[in-house]
Amino acid sequence: MSLPPGFLDELRNRLSLGQVVGRKVMWDTRKSNQGKGDLWAPCPFHQEKTASFHVDDRKGFYYCFGCHAKGDAISFVRETENVDFMEAVKILAAEAGMPVPERDPRAQEKADARTVLVDVMEQAVQYHRLQLQTGAAAAARDYLERRGLSAEAQARWEIGFAPPNGGVLEQLSGKGIDQKLIVDAGLAAESDRGNGLYNRFRDRIMFPIRDARGRAIGFGGRAMDPNHPAKYYNSPETALFDKGRSLFNHGPAREAAGKGKRLVVAEGYMDVIALSEAGFTATVAPLGTAITEDQLRLLWRMAPEPVIALDGDTAGLRAAMRVIDIALPLLEAGQSLRFALMPEGLDPDDLIKAQGAGAMQKLLDQAIPMVQLLWRRETEGQTFDSPERKAALDKTLREKIKLIQDPSIRNHYGQAIKDMRWALFSNRKAAPARKARGGAWNPRQDPWKRDVSPVAAARSSALATGGEDQDHLREAVILATMIVAPAVAPEFETALEQMDSRDPMHRDLQVCLLRHLGTADLRSLIMRDLGEAPLEKLFAQSHVAISPAIRRGGDAEIARLCLAEEFAKLNARQGQAREIEDAIEDLSGVADEGLTWRLAEATKAVDRAGRGDNDDRAEYAVGKNGARVKKDEQSAFDQLLEQIGFAKGQERPKS
Ligand code: UTP
Ligand code: MN
Repeated sequence: MSLPPGFLDELRNRLSLGQVVGRKVMWDTRKSNQGKGDLWAPCPFHQEKTASFHVDDRKGFYYCFGCHAKGDAISFVRETENVDFMEAVKILAAEAGMPVPERDPRAQEKADARTVLVDVMEQAVQYHRLQLQTGAAAAARDYLERRGLSAEAQARWEIGFAPPNGGVLEQLSGKGIDQKLIVDAGLAAESDRGNGLYNRFRDRIMFPIRDARGRAIGFGGRAMDPNHPAKYYNSPETALFDKGRSLFNHGPAREAAGKGKRLVVAEGYMDVIALSEAGFTATVAPLGTAITEDQLRLLWRMAPEPVIALDGDTAGLRAAMRVIDIALPLLEAGQSLRFALMPEGLDPDDLIKAQGAGAMQKLLDQAIPMVQLLWRRETEGQTFDSPERKAALDKTLREKIKLIQDPSIRNHYGQAIKDMRWALFSNRKAAPARKARGGAWNPRQDPWKRDVSPVAAARSSALATGGEDQDHLREAVILATMIVAPAVAPEFETALEQMDSRDPMHRDLQVCLLRHLGTADLRSLIMRDLGEAPLEKLFAQSHVAISPAIRRGGDAEIARLCLAEEFAKLNARQGQAREIEDAIEDLSGVADEGLTWRLAEATKAVDRAGRGDNDDRAEYAVGKNGARVKKDEQSAFDQLLEQIGFAKGQERPKS
């Protein structure tokens, strides 16, 4: 079966080879330069430990300097999935959201029909452009001028005019084009009253809409009368025009984004034009409908983190919220969104006119991550002064986060929400985000070290019950196990990232491990980055030396079990520590009711930790000796109760 001309080019264009290959290999993050699309990994086609397999994501080719395997996305899928050429094309096309032409004898006919429609549309574009130069279009030209669009800009955007009487229908059928084609192209329609055809666009400024390859597929027509009930009128869905899968200015924006321009999504035609004319050339807009899943996929094929620029009104915010709901299930590494909020009552076009491109640039630079907007949506304008309200908020957010399919991203969202929740409920700034990767740990940014309030003092005395010492031992075992079992370590990346070690040496090792996770020789890389001392110190500790995974020389299965268990225990205890901290926070204020509630919650947390059905640990294979954990934690908790005036043995607040 033959594919339509250009199909394979389009497919290769739409795909990121890095993404296709990335599912089969572990990138060498040290050697790779993601930003430049320059990626290295151990070769999937031959056995090796070093990374001699190179992907040029921009060009879409790979080459292995070891075994000389080379090719593109299609050959990669053929080789790794062991399928034939057509199968590989189908797999990739599905991923790229491109329908593969059916083995349909009429396929060619349909393709031909589309080609004919493209030609009709192209003639319509040219006709409307000419109309804009006629006397009948004087008001339209005035209008465009008033809106700051020079004659050159009008030409660049191929802006045209549909006259009030007589139009493209008469013109094209006069040239012998079948009227049915004019209807099929969405330019004319059958009148309800049964008296023939009429022009869909009348007395409107016409914005041609082209697909990524530059073919004219539709029009947006703007009325000049500000009181017109339909300000914009768009082409209907046709064989060419699929609104949910098209973007205004797709082709030019894709090219600009490929050259490194930030990809911006605006709401309207005029915004795209104004932004592009002001230098933000990688700008697109949906076509009079809310952004769809397909459009998001198209955006992510152009750039990993498009910025959604929203009008500064409630409709704009509502639109953003819809985008969030569609985007959450689709999030993946290197596939997210940011949001730039325009000042109240302005759209990007207004903003650039009023305050210049610099103001727009600033807003784009300050675009907020999706998680923050999600948080704002759920919290803005509300107070959370009762346990029930707090619980309701937690529930809503938990449900949103559950929509995220990617486990690692879901985890990060959970963590970010926890931080914001902590900041809101404890009425203080969130702990400064730690750099998880790259960059050394900076003790001056350590939130624990800076915090010297009386509350902090109470906290440390409540927690200094051996729990922290235990954490310290667990951390040491975790770090050492990861070093001796580098193949297993990446499975615990998120847990490692969230590990809250307070020992600077552990911090250094943690950061260093995170940086090199996925490489086979962690030990020598750590040695290179940190010197020998931390490693020596770590492995010299007796409980490290006797821990099962170390004794068994990094046996993968044992290491996996050991890490799962240690992380689970660490998590359980730190979860409990957080609850206790919350309780102490409340102690320092007035909240009696809150105190009772928090203590009840803390009690539950301790019970959960002991029983091993704590949410946080459910992800891990939980160890057997939960009982011991429970005992330690219970004593920490008893001590807290004593400190705040509950004698031992006294009835605890019921939940
Ligand atoms: P806006 O009202 O924000 O339009 O609608 P705009 O692009 O800023 O245009 P100007 O500045 O008023 O000239 C945003 C988009 O919503 C669709 C169009 O795609 C428009 O560009 N829309 C709007 C319609 O499809 N129909 C309408 O009646 C209004
Ligand atoms: Mn506008």
